[in-house]
Amino acid sequence: MYEFKIEAADKTELYRQLIEAADALTAGEPDAIANMANLAALIWESLPDLNWAGFYRNVEGELVLGPFQGRAACIRIPFGKGVCGTAAATREPQLVEDVHAFPGHIACDSASASELVVPIEHDARLIAVLDLDSPRVARFDAVDRDFCIRLAQRIAPRLAGVETAPPQR
Ligand code: SME
Repeated sequence: MYEFKIEAADKTELYRQLIEAADALTAGEPDAIANMANLAALIWESLPDLNWAGFYRNVEGELVLGPFQGRAACIRIPFGKGVCGTAAATREPQLVEDVHAFPGHIACDSASASELVVPIEHDARLIAVLDLDSPRVARFDAVDRDFCIRLAQRIAPRLAGVETAPPQR
């Protein structure tokens, strides 16, 4: 069992601990799906005010649902569609304060009010996007975005299938 107790007084410290925990949780494990599953659980437990947290994987140029926490979600998203597809097509993070004002937003859970999607790239390849949804308008700000970019950079090799054999545990 893994015990990560992330308790922080401020957002910077919260993300610092989250990124360290994400790194420790995925170190040496080559299975991308297992790592995404544990990361979704870790993020879900660590960040307040989320109603969905997880991954869409780039499967031959289409986003396909990966491990997540939250309500059942749409399975396939074409590049360029919705917030996730926009992040995948542009490879730019998407910080959406009000999803109802985002043209083409795909409403998987009607409770979602704001969203942050960050592309995860390794060796110039788009591996997946990290998608965070909140029931609160403007839940995410530039600080969340910048730390989620750092998180994505740290975990990218662990999701790209490039890690070698798992260590003896
Ligand atoms: N809202 C996303 C779809 C995925 S769900 O939020 C889990 C979008 O517009 O791409």
